[in-house]
Amino acid sequence: MTSRLRTAMLAAGAGLYYLKARRERGRVERLAAAALESLLNAIDANDPATGAHVRRVAAVSLIIADACGLSERERSSVERVALFHDIGKMHEALFDITHDGHALSAEERRQIATHPQLGANVVAPLSLFYPDLGDGILAHHERWDGTGYPRGLRGTEIPRTARIVALADTFDAITHHRRYDMARSTPDAVDVIAAERGRQFDPDLADVFLSPAVQHLVHAAMQPSLLPEPTLVSKRQQAPAQADVPDVAFRWHVAVQEAAGGPDAAQRSS
Ligand SMILES: [Fe+2]
Repeated sequence: MTSRLRTAMLAAGAGLYYLKARRERGRVERLAAAALESLLNAIDANDPATGAHVRRVAAVSLIIADACGLSERERSSVERVALFHDIGKMHEALFDITHDGHALSAEERRQIATHPQLGANVVAPLSLFYPDLGDGILAHHERWDGTGYPRGLRGTEIPRTARIVALADTFDAITHHRRYDMARSTPDAVDVIAAERGRQFDPDLADVFLSPAVQHLVHAAMQPSLLPEPTLVSKRQQAPAQADVPDVAFRWHVAVQEAAGGPDAAQRSS
C-alpha cells in the first residue's frame, strides 16, 4: 500500500468517525430536549395555570432577549429558564400553600422562598446539557440591589437569564390574576417596574423592557390573555383556555420531531 493511499484511508476513517460522533451527539441532545418537553408536560398536567404563566413569561422574556440582541444560544437559555423558573413550586411541600386562596403567613412565605433551590434540584440531572439552567432558576428571585433570595446576589452576579426572567415574571404576576391577587392593568405593571429600576431590576434591562418598541410587542403578544378577570376564583379553576396562552417557539420541537420520525417527519408536521 502506498503512503498516499494509506493517508487517504486514514482521512476517510477520521471523517467517518467524525460523522458518527456528530450523529450520536445529535441523538443525545434530542434526548435531553425531549426530557425538557416531558417536564413541561408534567407542569401542565399538574398545574395548568402555572403552565400558562411560564409560557407567558417565556414569550415576554424572548421579546426582551431579542431587543437586547442576544445570541441564539443565550436566547434559548433565556427561554428554558423562563419555562422552568417555577418548577420548584410543584414540590409537594409547596403545592397546597401556593394553591390556597388566602394571603400567605410569614412561615408560608419562608417555605415558598425555597422554590428556586427546589427547582434547581429538579433540573440538576440535566446540567451536562443545559449548564445555565439550574443557575438561572436558582437566581430568578434575586434582586439587583442584593436584597433578593436565596443567595442575596447583587448586580451582574445574577445571571442575565434570571435578570430578564425576573422582569417578565413580575410583569405577568401583576397583569394576570393568580391565587389571591387580582390582575392589575399593564400601566400599573409598567409603573411598578419603572419604580423598581435599579432596585429589584437591572436598570439597563428595565429600560429595554420599558421602551415603547418592546412595550408594543409585549402588549401584542399578551393581548389574548389580558382580558379582565371579574372575580377571584379558587384553586385549579384558574387555568386559562389554551388559546389564551401565547405561542412560544420552543427551540427543541423540531429536534424532538426529527427524533420521532426523522427530518421528513419534522417537515410533514410543519
Ligand atoms: Fe418564582
